[in-house]
Amino acid sequence: MSTVVALKSLAVPAPQSLSGFTLRPSAQSPRLLQLTFSQATVQGFLAALAEWPVQALEYKSFLRFRLAKILDELCAGSLQPLLINTLLDRATGGLLVSAEGLDQVAQADDMVKLATAVAHLFGRSNFDAMSGQYYARFVVQNVDASDSYLRQPHRVLELHTDGTFVEQDTDYVLMMKIDEQNMEGGDSLLLHLDDWEGLATFNHHPLARRELRWTAPPSKRVDKDVFHPVFDNDAEGRPIISYIDQFVQPKNFEEGNWLTDLSQSLEGSPHKLSVPVPVGSFLLINNHFWLHGRDRFTAHPGLRRELMRQRGYFTYAKVLREPRQ
Ligand SMILES: [Fe+2]
Repeated sequence: MSTVVALKSLAVPAPQSLSGFTLRPSAQSPRLLQLTFSQATVQGFLAALAEWPVQALEYKSFLRFRLAKILDELCAGSLQPLLINTLLDRATGGLLVSAEGLDQVAQADDMVKLATAVAHLFGRSNFDAMSGQYYARFVVQNVDASDSYLRQPHRVLELHTDGTFVEQDTDYVLMMKIDEQNMEGGDSLLLHLDDWEGLATFNHHPLARRELRWTAPPSKRVDKDVFHPVFDNDAEGRPIISYIDQFVQPKNFEEGNWLTDLSQSLEGSPHKLSVPVPVGSFLLINNHFWLHGRDRFTAHPGLRRELMRQRGYFTYAKVLREPRQ
């Protein structure tokens, strides 16, 4: 596949050929690849796991890696190197993953299993404080009383990265659609850092590397503030970003106004991608150079959307960013 051999520096040797899935550029951007598992792969995978309910994966961390191995074997060993190389490739670093025959909310547990297997081929998903598990499922409905915009449907969830207010490294974000009823709008929004016309200006500003304070609302169950700058460099000196508008706490006029300018520049970028994610599919992005958000939905009394997320660290490459102090 040309996408595979085009990578300049591969983290691991590329597979000779791809098996068990197809790969092509997405409709939205050549930076975002569409990976689709064949029906035979999905069925073989689920049959092999019949003895393990999702609860077994919650209780025994090591089983998540066995799931990953089973899935890679069904793909003749071609899936793992493809995922590692793509997620670390600055030119792409993002995938929309679909699975033939996996598209109904009744298959929610199977969706969690597939996403878990994929994530554990290149990383390990962190403990999610919101759910108390390595993944979190949550519902967006027409009425919401939460304390952040995550579950509020009628407004845009602005572009951000995950993990800004936790101390664990968050190298990847996986966002899966489990259910969708009476939904109009609400597509995922993505922006690759290198497509953002404001990058040079903001990355070279004196405030770009100033330590700012980041704090989470109560629902996140994170009670300690963390301090880090918005911009940093990866191991190869390229700029990376760790930013979310709702949880950064500027300490003064200067910081507050710079952050407002930054927010307006990101939101106004014409290079933002709008990506519909079908039920049973998930976005998988490198969290250091892809920002994500969600477009507004149209109000409907029967509106329901269920999502699943996993965030974690890469296990096959050194962490891109210098460790935080
Ligand atoms: Fe997020």
